[in-house]
Amino acid sequence: MKSLILIGFMGAGKTTVGKLLANTYNLPFIDMDAVIENDIGMTIDTFFEKYGEAAFRKKEQEVLADLMQQEAVIATGGGIVTSQANRTLLKSHPYVVFLKADPAVFLQRIKSDIAVKRPLASEKSDEAVRELYESRLDYYLESATVAINTDDLTPEEVVLELTRQL
Ligand code: S3P
Repeated sequence: MKSLILIGFMGAGKTTVGKLLANTYNLPFIDMDAVIENDIGMTIDTFFEKYGEAAFRKKEQEVLADLMQQEAVIATGGGIVTSQANRTLLKSHPYVVFLKADPAVFLQRIKSDIAVKRPLASEKSDEAVRELYESRLDYYLESATVAINTDDLTPEEVVLELTRQL
């Protein structure tokens, strides 16, 4: 395996699991949101405020196309699957892993993660965030090679389970 892409909703554990996977497979770890923030020179939250979601999605698509060429474990942003072009790109990759988490779990994580302000979740109601997740669920499933239910697993167990399935 030369590269692996993690998809899933905000707070699903893509960064934590991604770092562990990168260690396990001796690959670099790339956080797409960090790459985007570095490119745009501001936080994603500020970019959303200044230019809106459509401009962010355009940038996100460019970065995904570029990162897919890299040999690395790549953690994507939760909205990566909202564009048809991205879903087509993801389907062309042999190792796309959907980290599935129960809404109660990711809602709790989003709330406790005060270091990251997420424009589509941080100040929204639980119901709105849950609806956003539900509107994306089929897209995650259709874009992934493997889906792992992470609810009762530690990040280390997720890595073991993945190793078994890939
Ligand atoms: C988003 C998820 C965020 C980030 C942006 C939009 C989304 O990434 O890309 O705030 O639409 O779900 P994380 O999933 O890493 O929080």
